[in-house]
Amino acid sequence: MSAVVAILSGKGGTGKSTAAAALACALSELGRSVVCLDADAELRNLDLCLGMGDQALLDCGDVIAGRCGLDKALTPSPDFPGLRLLAAPSEPLPGAAAALLPELRSRFDYCILDYPGGLGPFVGEAAALADRVLVVSTADPCSHRDGERTAQLLRREGAKDLRLIVNRVNPRLLKAGNATLDDTVDRVGLQLLGYVPDDMRVTLALTAGQPLLAADKRPKRGAAAAFRRIAKRLEGLRVPVL
Ligand SMILES: Nc1ncnc2c1ncn2[C@@H]1O[C@H](COP(=O)(O)OP(=O)(O)OP(=O)(O)O)[C@@H](O)[C@H]1O
Ligand SMILES: [Mg+2]
Repeated sequence: MSAVVAILSGKGGTGKSTAAAALACALSELGRSVVCLDADAELRNLDLCLGMGDQALLDCGDVIAGRCGLDKALTPSPDFPGLRLLAAPSEPLPGAAAALLPELRSRFDYCILDYPGGLGPFVGEAAALADRVLVVSTADPCSHRDGERTAQLLRREGAKDLRLIVNRVNPRLLKAGNATLDDTVDRVGLQLLGYVPDDMRVTLALTAGQPLLAADKRPKRGAAAAFRRIAKRLEGLRVPVL
């Protein structure tokens, strides 16, 4: 059975594309076939997070327009077997994900949709298409409010199985602000799927043109290990959140 996982946040820059790419790589490590669909036409950068900068020569707009078949547009990851990128069209193309998902579902164990920040019609699309929606928030009040608003809108649109990822967690900063991870969970109002530490290896991997999970194989520490834990929880395995 294929699972469609949509990633949203409300606030921009919380780490949606980082999470989409890292979870896709981690699921591939677990032996799953995964397609990562860049649903952010205007500010697309999922290819960079996958270490596949500008490797996709064709995108889902080409498939929809009939300029190529789906196979040609599914660009294989050089680092993770069974992982494919379907790049965003150069212009927003409402309905593209809905049109392509039936075929993608039949071919892949996971279809991961990386949506833009903000609240647009795509929130309704994500709610309608995804089996699971992951809201990514950082641990600050602006992100909390936007995450809460996004979760409310998703619920209103009928989203199934909403979960929270708290990204860029810095324990020293939390302590200095007399805050805890629970504050983020309470304010956004979603069940926690996992937290990810703030980790300079995320930026270093991006700068080196590598996927984070290819660059960091440490089993316990850092953002890569956290994403591996979250992927296992997506798979239904019992892995502690912290
Ligand atoms: N856990 C982390 N530790 C350190 N840096 C991170 C982490 N997660 C994301 N970043 C950095 O934060 C920035 C924003 O991340 P990303 O592009 O994934 O966010 P986004 O939510 O997809 O943004 P947008 O809303 O523009 O699509 C990037 O520079 C990324 O490298
Ligand atoms: Mg993004």
